Amino acid sequence: MIENSLALHIAQAMLGQTGPLPNPFPRTIGPNAGKYVQEVIDSGLTIDMMGRFERAFAEALGVKYCVGTPGCTPALHVLALACDFKPGDEVIVSPISDYGTVQGLLSQNVIPVFADAAPGSVNFTADTIKPLITDRTRAILCVHFTGLINDMDPINELAKQHNLLVFEDCCQATFGQYKGRLVGTLGDAAAFSFDAEKTMGADQGGCLVTNNEKIHERARFMGHNRASEMVPHFGRIHPEIGYSYRMPQCTAAVCLAQLEIVRDQVVQRDKMARLLYKLLAEIPGITPLPISEYQNLFSCWMIGFTIDAKAFKCSTEEFGARVADAGIPGAGMAEYYLLPESLHCLQEKVKASVYPYSMPPASRTYTYSAETCPNAQSILKNFIRWSTFCEKYQPEHCELAANIVRKVADENRV
Ligand SMILES: Cc1ncc(COP(=O)(O)O)c(C=O)c1O
Repeated sequence: MIENSLALHIAQAMLGQTGPLPNPFPRTIGPNAGKYVQEVIDSGLTIDMMGRFERAFAEALGVKYCVGTPGCTPALHVLALACDFKPGDEVIVSPISDYGTVQGLLSQNVIPVFADAAPGSVNFTADTIKPLITDRTRAILCVHFTGLINDMDPINELAKQHNLLVFEDCCQATFGQYKGRLVGTLGDAAAFSFDAEKTMGADQGGCLVTNNEKIHERARFMGHNRASEMVPHFGRIHPEIGYSYRMPQCTAAVCLAQLEIVRDQVVQRDKMARLLYKLLAEIPGITPLPISEYQNLFSCWMIGFTIDAKAFKCSTEEFGARVADAGIPGAGMAEYYLLPESLHCLQEKVKASVYPYSMPPASRTYTYSAETCPNAQSILKNFIRWSTFCEKYQPEHCELAANIVRKVADENRV
């Protein structure tokens, strides 16, 4: 039976979770948050806190431009608007992600094409992307799932050969590093989330970053200024359908305070995730997600491992539930992250052959199903994750978490 799912504010969903492991909530808030919010209030809403945050975040990443938004979902929508994608244009997208990755594309009637993950990985590669490039492809949208960074150099090389833009969805990888370079600087533009549960949790918020002046200008015009222009003696006109996806001032104040503490937290996440993965790898039948050599800072947002289904007498779902019951709240499967399977809205459109899946603007028939991304499907079938991993973990928590998984594994071996 399908039930309506009401998106709960994540803190509400996680508040009831207790146990011996640290919970991200209540979040650690940067010491200057109150001061910055007070500045907004004392100014009578006259200061530009969003601009201050944008400049600070751009400087922290070493990029020219940052555009504050209410979340990553709107940031990626702004990006689609800023790049002037047309209905029927294609963007190649990571197969495993959150709906927020594609909402902006769908709103602009851009067609997402999902490239498969590499075997044993949650991310795609240049090799899985390449066969999907057509004359309609405009961009590649890379999701650094769980904080594991895509191998960006070959992806950029491929994009260059075909004159494509490269975007990063950095929601789960804030301040991670690839060969010494920060995520968000590895393509033409990138989007971040600062929602309550994310690594730089600030209740709500997001941004897009870029070094491309044209993308930046169009993003402001289309995404912040509602595409408005002033006509003398008349006033505002709207030559295009624009949006007002601005980051609220008080959100910007909290984001600014979180930015001041997040980089130390990411170093802690890196250390603890690597330790935990090492401990999990020692358990027969358990394979933690692989951390590539090129990833020199692992801004891990979610711990994930696969189980060897043949080694256990319970199903993967039962295994996850037992791990949760044994003391890791939130542990469980996450098959819904397989976008080509979960986007029923697209499956329906294709079936009915409606806009933009009618021809034109589409130039061919599309298929959205798990079978189009067999590697992504296969890893998620045996995948267990907990997104309650956070920077509060200490080595003893890693030992404890690994021992919980070990106990469940030992109790359920064939
Ligand atoms: C990979 C990814 N992209 C996009 C989003 C959407 O972010 P936001 O809630 O800031 O719109 C999320 C949120 O979970 C995410 O994990």
